[in-house]
Amino acid sequence: MIKKPEIRSYSSLSELSLAAAEFIAQLAEARIKERGVFTFVLSGGTTPRLLYEELAKESHASRVDWQHTHLFWGDERFLPPDHPESNFALAFESLISEVDVPPGNIHRIPTEIGSIQAVAEGYEKTLRAFFPAAIGSEEEPYFPTFDLVLLGIGQDGHIASLFPGDAALEEKERWVVAVDGLNASPPLPRITITLPAINKARNVIFLAAGSNKREVFQQVVSNPETSAYPAARVKPSGSLLWFIDEWLA
Ligand code: 6PG
Repeated sequence: MIKKPEIRSYSSLSELSLAAAEFIAQLAEARIKERGVFTFVLSGGTTPRLLYEELAKESHASRVDWQHTHLFWGDERFLPPDHPESNFALAFESLISEVDVPPGNIHRIPTEIGSIQAVAEGYEKTLRAFFPAAIGSEEEPYFPTFDLVLLGIGQDGHIASLFPGDAALEEKERWVVAVDGLNASPPLPRITITLPAINKARNVIFLAAGSNKREVFQQVVSNPETSAYPAARVKPSGSLLWFIDEWLA
């Protein structure tokens, strides 16, 4: 059964980032206690920078057992990993370089390995090796169960690199696909995880702030059945939580 999203609103982006960092630290503690591992899909864009910086601070970082935390990416621009507009570069500067996460736990999208198709296929293989189907499972097609998928939302309602009208939104088997990103900002080809991979997660959280996101947010949460925005199709098996600022409330 699809649960209703929970919406938490804060006075500013820094307040919502602090609250989201607190939520993530608690979730990491709980998942590692229960299962010995925490799998966390990071997002790109500009909104999560403050959250990553909060998570890197001692007050949160010391509560996360980084040895048992595995980081993944929901999407990536087809750029070298040290490019200023790379989603990996953002997470590296603001979080990864500040905490004790082992290099083997950082599962970035390897944009340097070849064509964009090869990158998407390579990342799907990485994910499939990390999340093998349980022996005897007949679930077909099979998708990974991430503990947490972090998402932003574009003014056009896109999530990760799944843009309105893209064929990638209808993907039913692949975990990772390449998209042309012609309508994206910056307009670059991108690699993205797919909707079924997002929707299988135990927890999905959105971060959204600023008056330019108000309309799309209101549409997505008030008309999830009729809205054509990709964000309205985020209906995870687990929980769905929005952290918003006062411009959206
Ligand atoms: C990206 C994203 C994308 C982002 C939204 C919101 O690579 O751009 O992962 O889906 O989350 O575009 O971006 P802002 O946080 O910059 O508004």
